[in-house]
Amino acid sequence: MNTSKLIELPKFLDARGNLSFAQNNTHIPFEIKRTYWLYDVPGGENRGGHAYKETEEFVIALSGSFDVIVDDGKEKKTFHLNRSYYGLYIPKGMWREMKNFSTNSLALEFASTKYDPADYIRDYNEFLKLKEDGKI
Ligand code: TYD
Repeated sequence: MNTSKLIELPKFLDARGNLSFAQNNTHIPFEIKRTYWLYDVPGGENRGGHAYKETEEFVIALSGSFDVIVDDGKEKKTFHLNRSYYGLYIPKGMWREMKNFSTNSLALEFASTKYDPADYIRDYNEFLKLKEDGKI
């Protein structure tokens, strides 16, 4: 089942500037082991066409906007991220793509694992086969 979902984060509106935050287990449904960010994405480029065997992720559009397409092998969901107080939770075993980055967009990602190239599935047909066989 495609259980990816948007999670609204706390938001403190203030004339001095707004503040939002996210923390382990309260908003982000896993323990954060790593964070990384995507920036200076040229117009028309796509990122993240792959799945992870184990890694869960939480994505925030800190600035600008972009689309995240999450595919469980049967159902695809498209999320348009354009507010810094929403995060998208992506469970493990999902094919995920990021598209339509606006100028100066900034994507912050939290991950449940340290970086491991062996956790990546980069071939879509292999992803579908692993899903069919119940291996991911
Ligand atoms: P990759 O995950 O392939 O980017 P995308 O899915 O957006 O196309 O990562 C690009 C490069 O960055 C790749 O050479 C591996 C490196 N990388 C790290 O070293 N650590 C990390 O945490 C991540 C996400 C990537």
